[in-house]
Amino acid sequence: MSLADTSYVRVHPLPVRVTHWVNALAILMMVLSGWRIYNASPLFGFRFPNDWTLGGWLGGALQWHFAAMWLLAGNGLIYVCYGVLSGHFRRKLLPVSPSAVLHEVGQALRGRLAHDDLTLYNAAQRAAYLAAIALGVLLILSGLVIWKPVQFQGLGMLMGNFEGARYVHFFAMAALVFFVVVHVVMVALVPRTFPSMFTGRIRVPSKGE
Ligand code: HEM
Repeated sequence: MSLADTSYVRVHPLPVRVTHWVNALAILMMVLSGWRIYNASPLFGFRFPNDWTLGGWLGGALQWHFAAMWLLAGNGLIYVCYGVLSGHFRRKLLPVSPSAVLHEVGQALRGRLAHDDLTLYNAAQRAAYLAAIALGVLLILSGLVIWKPVQFQGLGMLMGNFEGARYVHFFAMAALVFFVVVHVVMVALVPRTFPSMFTGRIRVPSKGE
């Protein structure tokens, strides 16, 4: 197939591209500074290596965490509002059925990645992206309980109060880090998707040729 046989299709609207990369940066800052905060009072019998953390010390890490928190919450809100109001979520992330997701994951584990049509997300991608969005919401809600336990008492009761919210926050972070690792591996396996998250378009075979 020569370049003359191909044309470009728009796959990622500008608001999705901008919020995606701002989110990725905000999440990186939140996770690395969060690890430093965790190290000051670990929930489990381990600490994260200080070299992998952001902030230099507990006070510095808290400053990073609180600064990136506004970026993540504001930018996340813009992404979710755009996704719902523009129909982007309905068009690209729905519908998603458990049987289709299991089928897709089984295929991927056998080395058969169902990503031939790069203008559509397969069922496993849809489920993973919806889960990442839900984890972001859970991280923000549990973070609010840890930040202001008195003001968010009602929400805190749903999570086992301050201590329970710390565990919810930790496990939601671990699940989101797992998503990011798998996500980046998938992008590496289908590298053509990477530039499209900057340019918004992807090359496909021209129709009728
Ligand atoms: C750090 C946290 C990250 C989160 C939470 C995240 C989340 C997401 C979500 C929700 C989507 C779907 C967007 C939509 O259409 O509404 C997406 C797509 C995408 N992301 Fe990420 N992402 C992250 C980091 C990254 C990184 C580091 C890379 C690059 C290596 C990357 C590359 C991509 C690409 C290429 C797509 C489009 C996939 C395709 O068209 O098949 N993401 N990401």
